[in-house]
Amino acid sequence: MDVGTGPGNFIPELLEAMPNVKVTGVDPNVGSLDEARQKYPKFKFKEMFGERLDFSDNAFDAASVSMALHHLPDVVKTFAEMQRVVKPGGFIIVNELFSDNLNPAQNVHKRMHHFRSKIDRLKGVSHNATFTKKEILALIETAGLEIDLHFENTKAQNKPAPDEIAERKEKLLDMLDGIKNFPEFQGMSKEVPEIERELDLHGFQMATCVVAVATVN
Ligand SMILES: C[S@@+](CC[C@H](N)C(=O)[O-])C[C@H]1O[C@@H](n2cnc3c(N)ncnc32)[C@H](O)[C@@H]1O
Repeated sequence: MDVGTGPGNFIPELLEAMPNVKVTGVDPNVGSLDEARQKYPKFKFKEMFGERLDFSDNAFDAASVSMALHHLPDVVKTFAEMQRVVKPGGFIIVNELFSDNLNPAQNVHKRMHHFRSKIDRLKGVSHNATFTKKEILALIETAGLEIDLHFENTKAQNKPAPDEIAERKEKLLDMLDGIKNFPEFQGMSKEVPEIERELDLHGFQMATCVVAVATVN
């Protein structure tokens, strides 16, 4: 069961590790779930919040949450729900990007991501700044889970082509457009040329993720 599955972006990784796995994805965003259903017609997708999973106890062998911890209003409650629905001896997989020890190109990703999360919050969408690696591991442990293993996952990326940089700059303006009637618009507009400069200077690379696996007792 994949919490915060969105359009199903983590499913290829689950399938790579466990080719026969059957996935049930949950997410409150109906549009993303529709995308996931189109990509994976054999899997189940349900509209649901991670903090209130509508499944019985011990319903799944494993549960995952990828790139979604920083979207959750209550991370520890979501981990408690994930533990409830996973059978004893089953496991929980976390894949989450972190905000520290990044190279300059990854810091540009972080800056753009935090720009987006601020805009989402203004629009009432739950989206927080990303956590440090230490904070992510501490959240898992605070939820009573014992981490069996964890490692860093960096996607090797080439220097972005000029048209990719241009696309990212356009995305920034699209995001800003979403708050054009908000009092914060002026202040946030000032950030755009700074981020554009950083994009030109350093390029863009996805932030590193930490992957952690914990067994449910
Ligand atoms: C960046 S996407 C992650 C998508 C995918 N899991 C991945 O690895 O790329 C974060 C997802 O968390 C979802 N989300 C936000 N609040 C949530 C909540 N309370 N419970 C579960 N998912 C939530 C969002 O709708 C969004 O689809």
